[in-house]
Amino acid sequence: MSKAKISYNDKLLSGFINKDELENYNQSIASAEKMLSGRSGPGNDFLGWLDLPRTISPSVVDSIASKASEIKEKADILICVGIGGSYLGARAAIEFLSSSFEDMRKPRVVFAGHSINSDYIADLLDMVKDRSVAVNMISKSGTTTEPGVAFRVIRQFMEKRYGKKEAASRIIATTDPAKGALRKLAREEGYTTFEIPSDVGGRFSVLTPVGLFPIAVSGIDIRNLLTGASESMDFCSGDNYENNLSAHYAAVRNILFRKGFTTEVMAAFQPQLHFVSEWWKQLAGESEGKCGTGIFPAALDYTTDLHSLGQWMQEGIRNVFETFVLLKKTNRTVEVPKFDDDSDELNYLASRSFEEINLNAYKGTLLAHVDGGVPSATISLEDRSEKTLGQLFYFFEKAIAISGYMLRVNPFDQPGVEAYKKNMFALLGKGGFEKLREQLLSRTGSMQL
Ligand code: PA5
Repeated sequence: MSKAKISYNDKLLSGFINKDELENYNQSIASAEKMLSGRSGPGNDFLGWLDLPRTISPSVVDSIASKASEIKEKADILICVGIGGSYLGARAAIEFLSSSFEDMRKPRVVFAGHSINSDYIADLLDMVKDRSVAVNMISKSGTTTEPGVAFRVIRQFMEKRYGKKEAASRIIATTDPAKGALRKLAREEGYTTFEIPSDVGGRFSVLTPVGLFPIAVSGIDIRNLLTGASESMDFCSGDNYENNLSAHYAAVRNILFRKGFTTEVMAAFQPQLHFVSEWWKQLAGESEGKCGTGIFPAALDYTTDLHSLGQWMQEGIRNVFETFVLLKKTNRTVEVPKFDDDSDELNYLASRSFEEINLNAYKGTLLAHVDGGVPSATISLEDRSEKTLGQLFYFFEKAIAISGYMLRVNPFDQPGVEAYKKNMFALLGKGGFEKLREQLLSRTGSMQL
């Protein structure tokens, strides 16, 4: 059995959940596990992520690592174009494992196509104009509007700057093995391509080339990331909450949800975890929020947000539970210096590390929130290493899959995402949406900007 570098502590939940309630969930855990391993539940054609850390072909990993080395040599900046599951995993890993300041990262990975904004794209092109650039266009469907239009602008910039042939050698497309407009374009232009397995959905794709390539370019060891995820498979399976960490967390969430705690706040105590929370928000929200049910996933960064939303967390409406994420060991240690004059009266903290102070902020917050009626538990991470993050990614993926089955939804589809897209296409005049366009225009006519 591999050593877990993550743990889940729910001791302070005893006032909200009793042991019998958890024991009673073992039946649901066993049934969710059976549906997953037997591939018999809803969305069973999207379970490629389940064994991926152990089944990913070494030759795929080698080709990602080797292309990443080539790009690292050649480029100062990699622009990653993608949205949702084609963006958040790579960003989460890079922010968690790299320097806190982008200027210190070499090569630098920057992101585009995750919003629709002229200033952002124009600023990006200004920023890269004197640097050597490579581009990774990531889209499973190959037809998503936000990355699609961003890539048009970036491709035009690359072709103008490098010429068509050299530009093509600097563009890497990550997409479906056979289908979609991006696959067709990549074939025509001769881009290097990576395949997104057809049985892995966007938000479960961080350990496919979607995440692995940009992560590798940023200098992170993707083999260790995969090893971590594979280790997680040991302690995130089994039909009992006592030996299945993902199921333990999933059961707690569902018990609390049924008691009226309908929002989960992921409260991270390190700034480097911000995008891990963003990634988790998408994983949980898109997997569970459907059929009129689902835990609403929210995220806060502590202690920053204790000075903005701390009041709400302490005394606001009591429909929220909290999952703290705590890092046990930072890469470096900074201590508070001693000053003889002690004018700021902080000498009582002299020689103490920022982590010691942060740990006490965490303990104080946890106890205060529990006393304020917020059910709270903690996920602890051993360190800021690839293996720990790999374990965490897999832990959450498995937990949300189990939790979705407990909520009796299909955790692997996202039918609701289409509603805004259809309206946007109709309003923009895309062919095939003429009737909807008329209906919408009759309603938006009076909308003023
Ligand atoms: O999880 C999902 O399926 C979505 O968030 C997608 O990743 C997102 O919509 C981007 O889709 P695509 O990769 O097809 O451009």
